Amino acid sequence: MPLFKNFFFDSQTQILVWKITETYEQLFSEVVLNMKNRERLIGMKSELHQRGFLSVRKLLQEAGYNDLDLYYDEFGKPHLEDDKYISITHSHEFSAIIISNRSVGIDIELHREKIIRIADKFITSEVKFLSIEDVNEYIQKLTVIWGAKEAIFKIQNEKGISFKDHIQVLPFDLQEIKTTANLNFGDIQKQFDVYYEAVENFGLVYAFEKEWF
Ligand SMILES: CC(C)(COP(=O)(O)OP(=O)(O)OC[C@H]1O[C@@H](n2cnc3c(N)ncnc32)[C@H](O)[C@@H]1OP(=O)(O)O)[C@@H](O)C(=O)NCCC(=O)NCCS
Repeated sequence: MPLFKNFFFDSQTQILVWKITETYEQLFSEVVLNMKNRERLIGMKSELHQRGFLSVRKLLQEAGYNDLDLYYDEFGKPHLEDDKYISITHSHEFSAIIISNRSVGIDIELHREKIIRIADKFITSEVKFLSIEDVNEYIQKLTVIWGAKEAIFKIQNEKGISFKDHIQVLPFDLQEIKTTANLNFGDIQKQFDVYYEAVENFGLVYAFEKEWF
């Protein structure tokens, strides 16, 4: 099943999710790739990563773009030639992109128990609203927090930002599908709207920078 989800979050923002069931050869035969990305693809160590990379090109094509419309800056952040914002994520058999007129970031992560062990590396004040009583809920909430911080990092893309010290996710319930996060880094003080949903056993999180803050 290739295209898993394709929806407009609002009139200016499209989100697309791919479930990667195709072989490398199939994906490769169906996408356009510029020379730089051909070289990058060949250099990737795992086939899973290659298929994730190629599936993102399928998503771009679904959205009316292709690899020739995409370029990366020196930090590895992707940009579109038409100046719309784009963010990219891939994890195991899923990949997702978000395209918007607003500054956006996206992240998809598998729900894994391992996140409990590393939680203290990326949360601080969030412990106040987390409870370990229901382990599944705990894992899902930690995954939302992690995803929100990754998505915000992808927007802000600033050397030195620490997930633990500089990004704070405000309390939320999984059913609410929305929360807020603050970035306080040096002189930078920003707020972000964060949205999350489950995609099979994965957490999909995307963030928008609040313009009025
Ligand atoms: C760059 C980073 C955000 C990528 O996230 P990830 O979860 O490893 O991987 P994802 O699949 O979600 O995202 C990868 C995509 O992010 C994009 N990306 C890479 N660097 C980026 C950057 N500096 N800014 C914005 N987007 C970036 C790329 O599009 C990349 O995919 P592609 O190269 O195939 O197009 C992450 O590796 C990182 O550096 N995080 C911050 C470091 C940190 O503080 N980590 C842990 C603290 S406890």
